Amino acid sequence: MKKTVLTVSSANMDLNMRVNEAPLKGQTILGDSYSYVPGGKGANSAITLAKLGAHSVLCAALGNDANGTALKKVYNGFGIDTSCILTVNDYPTGLAAVTVEADGANRIAVFSGANSMLTPEHAVSSIKASSPDAVFCQFEIPFETVRAVSEYCHENSVPLFIDAGPADPSLPIEKLAPVFVFSPNETETELFTGISPSDEESCIQAVNRLSERVKARYYVIKLGSRGAGVYDNGNFTVIPTYDVKVVDTTAAGDSFTAALTLEYIRTEDILHSCRYGNAVASVAVSRPGAGESVPDSKELEDFLHKNGITL
Ligand code: ATP
Ligand code: RIB
Repeated sequence: MKKTVLTVSSANMDLNMRVNEAPLKGQTILGDSYSYVPGGKGANSAITLAKLGAHSVLCAALGNDANGTALKKVYNGFGIDTSCILTVNDYPTGLAAVTVEADGANRIAVFSGANSMLTPEHAVSSIKASSPDAVFCQFEIPFETVRAVSEYCHENSVPLFIDAGPADPSLPIEKLAPVFVFSPNETETELFTGISPSDEESCIQAVNRLSERVKARYYVIKLGSRGAGVYDNGNFTVIPTYDVKVVDTTAAGDSFTAALTLEYIRTEDILHSCRYGNAVASVAVSRPGAGESVPDSKELEDFLHKNGITL
């Protein structure tokens, strides 16, 4: 039976522009190409979950506009359950301006729009309505909503996986109820702890600092091309990722943590789930786009087979 994962998070349209190098302050440059693609950390994660075989339910807020209509169609096409999506008047669908440089690195500015209208009440009633095996959240929606989700999940023993982006140092993360997995990337780790996770020792120091702020069963630090580090009861294990030609890193983190979430609730093995997340994200970074770059189960199987990888 398919596992149900409810993603309570954001949905954006991405204006994705390929450039040689991102413009400096005050500079205008010419881009190489552009496209509008479905994005938003939450929607990218919900697409990942659907592609990898979950019953993926997305609780997000869209505007009552052309981008909102187009995105909902895309989600339905991926088989995402859209019954918990709110359509709000007076706020446009979220929009992200994404520049992707020749080496695949991105810079992103987001206008939240309708995402700012995703209320705690709607999120909690979506959990009650979908009875998920796990809930997945990010910080691209109001913090109060994430906090309410953490309280409900804690009180009702629903495992909550938090992909801790985007980070704002002023986020009062100590107000979260204990969560199951807390997973920031390198930048987010530094913003939340003041410690750059540059090597194993600093990763452990950062997790110790993080654990004073947020209680979690596991801390998983995403380390970009170095893979990811899992902190489990005093043990820190770095799981390297796979060598691929990087085209576009957009949604690397979203796909990694969503894949880890699904595989964890299927196997209850955190290190294996981290290897699975690395494999999914490494295929995603080798292709252009956001959620659409994530492999489905068959493409993932082909990647593993072709590269002789056993997870
Ligand atoms: P983004 O914001 O671009 O979505 P992120 O900064 O949140 O991503 P990263 O730590 O950059 O997250 O990447 C997440 C995961 O993607 C890594 O843990 C790894 O599994 C995979 N990954 C990232 N960069 C590479 C790379 N160059 N080669 C292979 N895998 C990668
Ligand atoms: O993590 C990548 C995503 O961040 C993009 O799709 C963009 O919409 C922003 O939410």
